[in-house]
Amino acid sequence: MSTDWESCYRAGETPWDKGAPAPPLLEWLAQPGHRFEGAVLVPGCGLGHDVRAIAATGQAREVVGLDLSPAALALARQQPPAGRESYAEADLFDLPPAFRGRFDWVFEHTCFCAIDPARRAADVRAVAGALKPRGPLHAVFYLDPWANGEPPPPGGGPPFPASREEIDDLFAGRFERLDQAVPVRAYRGREGRELRCLFRRES
Ligand SMILES: C[S@@+](CC[C@H](N)C(=O)[O-])C[C@H]1O[C@@H](n2cnc3c(N)ncnc32)[C@H](O)[C@@H]1O
Repeated sequence: MSTDWESCYRAGETPWDKGAPAPPLLEWLAQPGHRFEGAVLVPGCGLGHDVRAIAATGQAREVVGLDLSPAALALARQQPPAGRESYAEADLFDLPPAFRGRFDWVFEHTCFCAIDPARRAADVRAVAGALKPRGPLHAVFYLDPWANGEPPPPGGGPPFPASREEIDDLFAGRFERLDQAVPVRAYRGREGRELRCLFRRES
């Protein structure tokens, strides 16, 4: 899969975009007591389906979808508003000063797997840098769909899959893990290939 995201969005070659929020996010939101509150950042939001699903709960004060692709954000902004959402064109690795330490929550889905593994430690630092101290990170990671010799999923799988061990190593020291589970609900072809992690920034 190309990682020239802007060109992909301009060409309409976006196999990752399913036209709907991530099923693991909807599954989590449907559980009693599960809510995003305060200011929520969704990095690598693409067309913003997850942003609007969180905004539609009405429980967050604001939901900011961040992406470096102007074409993706133009499409996101064309969608009917769901609540208190907005979109910001920015690079996660060069966050606007106003975003640093501002967010009560980060929700991440298919942004980590879009980042070159050489930059993953920087990705973890950037996400931590966007959160308030002790702020929670809800991440849905796309694990390596080929790890067990399985056929490729529809859409071809993530550009940079991750293993549970890599995730453990990368987040240790900066985030405390509160919970993790394989989501039951998934886009077709991703069943059993994702991992939900709830972390909290260490300090
Ligand atoms: C695989 S797509 C997933 C988009 C969306 N989460 C979805 O599931 O439809 C990865 C997204 O991350 C964005 N992205 C990649 N690197 C980024 C960076 N450094 N900062 C902000 N966004 C980035 C891309 O533009 C793209 O929209």
